Amino acid sequence: MAYETLIVEIEDHIALIKLNRPDALNALNSTLLGELAKALKSADENDKVRCIILTGSEKAFAAGADIKEMAEKSFVDVFAEDMFGTDAEQMLRTRKPIIAAVSGYALGGGCELAMMCDFIIAADTAKFGQPEINLGVVAGMGGTQRLTRFVGKSKSMDMHLTGRFMTAEEAERCGLVSRVVPAKKLMDEAMAAATKIAEKSMLATLAVKEAVNRSYETTLREGLLFERRLFHSMFATEDQKEGMAAFLEKREPQFRDK
Ligand code: CAA
Repeated sequence: MAYETLIVEIEDHIALIKLNRPDALNALNSTLLGELAKALKSADENDKVRCIILTGSEKAFAAGADIKEMAEKSFVDVFAEDMFGTDAEQMLRTRKPIIAAVSGYALGGGCELAMMCDFIIAADTAKFGQPEINLGVVAGMGGTQRLTRFVGKSKSMDMHLTGRFMTAEEAERCGLVSRVVPAKKLMDEAMAAATKIAEKSMLATLAVKEAVNRSYETTLREGLLFERRLFHSMFATEDQKEGMAAFLEKREPQFRDK
């Protein structure tokens, strides 16, 4: 399928979704968010795809929601269309893992989009920020909630109240990103991580994603029980038998997603 604001390639079980509005530093307009929702749903439903990478350009992952598109809207407009509701939430409905490969600016909605991915690999050029305060507004795609869970109250308040940008190094130090790599190696590192994920049992992969995400939604006690029951349920799969047998027989497992 051809998109106006995305480039989508599927290669070796990996769907690479590249945000593609270079003239606007990949600002998230309604077309892009709608197309992204469609591309994610289609990758999730495609049996060939086992992992998704979301990326932008060298200069910008995404510089936020599209300010030109938003500037003249009224409360009634944004409330009626539920701006940043349904389409953005497709990120959360996607069951396969999504890696954010971030180079350059990830600001406002761009930072929030990266945080909705399962983990973030950052180029050493990446800059993260929630500068909505400079526009006289507050974050609207989850920044105040997710950044606070990632980095704690003090740094989240600092970022949201001052609108300052964080370097990749600071982002790694405070747990916002999983690793920082030289900009030139960003896509190789993201592909290598996605390839590793694609080799696992898809059943275990989906279970891991559900269990880790549950930790954000529930108490520790309920989360531990959820994890334990999921672990028990894996013993109903052939992949558990294969994975453990392969270990004991000192060979590579051949997972069949069964
Ligand atoms: N929306 C629309 N257009 C944007 C944009 C955005 N968020 N960010 C950049 N652009 C456009 C610029 O208007 C410019 O277009 P023109 O050439 O037509 O004027 C083009 O992209 C290049 O941008 P700059 O000339 O500004 O590039 P720069 O290198 O000088 O600065 C930048 C880069 C620091 C990222 C700067 O563009 C910037 O501050 N952008 C806005 C960042 C921002 O405020 N993001 C939050 C948006 S609100 C939001 O996201 C709400 C939410 O929570 C969902």
